[in-house]
Amino acid sequence: MAFERVLTRNVGKPEALTYKGYRQLGGYEGLAKALKMEPDAIIDEVKKSGLRGRGGAGFSAGLKWSFIPKGKDKPKYLVCNADESEPGTFKDRLLMEFDPHQLIEGCAICCWAVQANTTYIYIRGEYTKAAAILEQAIKEAYDAGVLGDSVMGSGFKLNMYVHRGAGAYICGEETGMLESLEGKRGQPRVKPPFPAVVGAFGAPTVINNVETLCNVPHIIERGADWFKAIGTDEKNTGPKLYAISGHVERPGTYEYPIGITFREMLEGCGGMLKGRPLKAFIPGGASAPILKADQIDIKMDFDTVAKAGSMLGSAAVIVMDDTTCMVRSVARLAKFFNHESCGQCTPCREGTNWMELMLKRIEHGEGTERDGQVLLSICGHIGGNSLCALGDAAIGPVQSLVKGFQDEIDRHIREKACPFPHRRYFEN
Ligand SMILES: Cc1cc2nc3c(=O)[nH]c(=O)nc-3n(C[C@H](O)[C@H](O)[C@H](O)COP(=O)(O)O)c2cc1C
Repeated sequence: MAFERVLTRNVGKPEALTYKGYRQLGGYEGLAKALKMEPDAIIDEVKKSGLRGRGGAGFSAGLKWSFIPKGKDKPKYLVCNADESEPGTFKDRLLMEFDPHQLIEGCAICCWAVQANTTYIYIRGEYTKAAAILEQAIKEAYDAGVLGDSVMGSGFKLNMYVHRGAGAYICGEETGMLESLEGKRGQPRVKPPFPAVVGAFGAPTVINNVETLCNVPHIIERGADWFKAIGTDEKNTGPKLYAISGHVERPGTYEYPIGITFREMLEGCGGMLKGRPLKAFIPGGASAPILKADQIDIKMDFDTVAKAGSMLGSAAVIVMDDTTCMVRSVARLAKFFNHESCGQCTPCREGTNWMELMLKRIEHGEGTERDGQVLLSICGHIGGNSLCALGDAAIGPVQSLVKGFQDEIDRHIREKACPFPHRRYFEN
C-alpha cells in the first residue's frame, strides 16, 4: 500500500533530533506560518481538518481548543499528555524519541491558537530516554528563540516544561494528570467543570495527546483540505500511528492513513507469527473490547471500530493467535485494572478486584456455571458509575470475553483446568 509517511517522516534521520537538523528538514515552517495567522483562524483550520484526539476518546481537537475562554484575566495552559500507559501502546514514545521538535512545534502552535503562555509535557516516569531527548530539544528551542520571551521574533511568550510522572496509569486520565502535575495524589476530578474552564492550577487548560499535537504543524503548513483527504471519511481523517504487538512477525509502531483495514495492517507487519491462525485482536489498547478473527476486514478508524462494538482508543493493536487462552489474557488485563484503579470510587475499586479474582478462579479450573453472568453483573455495576473512564475501560475486555468467548469459559469449567498448554500464569 503506497502512502506518504507524515508523522514518522523523520524517523531514521538522526539529524531531526537537533534544532538545526529539524530546520533543514523543513521543520518549524508550520509555526512560522501560524504566527502570521489570527489565533481563531488556526482553531478553525484544525476544526476543519477533522483532527480527532489520538489519546483515546477521539474528541475534535479544534472544538476542544475553541472551549478555552478568551480574555486575559487568568493564565492559560497546554498540558501535553505523554503518559502513554495504556497496555500495548508505544506510539508517543517513538514520536518523542525520534522527532521531539515536531511535538514542540505542535505545542507552540496550539498555545498561540488558545493564547496560552505555558506548556507542560506530562511524561510517564519510565520514559527516561524520551524525557532526556525532549529536555535537550526544548533547551535548543530556547537557544534558537523558538521558545521564550518572543517565539520566532513574534513577541508571543511561551515557556515549556517536561514534568515526569511516577508510573501510575491513572495519571494519564486528564484530571488525574492535572492533580499529579499540581503535586497532589493523581485522583481524577469531578467533571464538570471541564479542564477547558478549570484546569491546571484552576486556570483554563487544553489537554492533548502527543500524537494529536504532532499532527498540528502539518495541518497548518499543508492545509485542512490536504489532511481531510487522508482517511476513511470526513469524521476519520489524517495519518495515524498504530502500535502493533502480540503474535505477529514484526511488531512495532506503524504509520498508515486512518481507516486502513486490520487485514492490510497485519500484512504490513509480516503476518501472523509463524503463520498461525488469527484468533482475536484488541484494536485500541487494553480498554477496548476484543474483536474476533472474522472481523479481520474492519477499517481501523474511530467510527467503524465503535460500530463493531469496540473502540480505536489509543490504537494499540494486540494480536492473538489460536494458542491464546482468552480467559488468561483477560484475567491478566483485569489484574492490571485492579492494580491501577485509584480506589476513589467504590464500584471501580471493588469491582475491578472481584473481576480479577473471578477470572483467576476460572483460569485455575475452579469456576462455576454462574460465573459468566456474575461477571456481566459486576460489569453492569461498574460501567457509568465511576468518576473517570477507568471503570468503563476495565469492563470492556471482560464483557467481550463473556459475550464472545463463552465456549472457552465453559471449557475451563468443564475440564476443571485451563485447556491451553502453558505454565500457570497466576501463582495465587
Ligand atoms: C485511565 C485513563 C488513562 C488514560 N491514559 C492516557 C494516556 O496515557 N495518554 C493519553 O494521551 N490519554 C490518556 N487518556 C485519555 C485522556 O484522559 C484524555 O482524553 C486525552 O489526553 C485527551 O487528549 P486527546 O484529545 O488529544 O486525545 C486516559 C484516560 C483514562 C480514563
